[in-house]
Amino acid sequence: NLVIKEARMINKAMQDAMNEQINKELFSSYLYLSMAAYFEAQNLSGFAHWMRIQEAEEREHAMKFYNFILERGGKVTLKALEAPKTEWKSSLELFEEAAAHEAMITASINALYDLAMKEKDYSALTMLQWFTTEQVEEEKNAADIVANLKLIEDRGTAVLMLDHRLAKRGVE
Ligand code: FEO
Repeated sequence: NLVIKEARMINKAMQDAMNEQINKELFSSYLYLSMAAYFEAQNLSGFAHWMRIQEAEEREHAMKFYNFILERGGKVTLKALEAPKTEWKSSLELFEEAAAHEAMITASINALYDLAMKEKDYSALTMLQWFTTEQVEEEKNAADIVANLKLIEDRGTAVLMLDHRLAKRGVE
């Protein structure tokens, strides 16, 4: 039935934007996989484990868009993936970048939401709702780790300050 087929058909603007989002989610996966390797190389297996789980989640995110486009009779177009960074100065710098990356993904999801509203694409809006909730979690997870790493770093600074004070001890 042609009428039903046309009703479910995703429009071109939404399809193109979702194909871009697949690329962003797959790049996220690639980025976290690179971060996992960085941690593995330093024998920080807990950090690496966290990143491996994150990496798998990102592939699931990509697949949600992939499946949505196909279910709506659209065309999935995979694009080239950018190479992620491989080195960071510290775990803190790495997690600050992960947090910034997630903020960028949130902005991208919000832009998709705006487009779905403009196009009156109600099923896309429902599907994107899951992502807006997920992004709150994604941003919070990264921010919590940044905060924890800063605490550890501050403690290091406190030890250095004490060391500086002890260095001033005179002979009694
Ligand atoms: Fe797929 Fe981390 O957002």
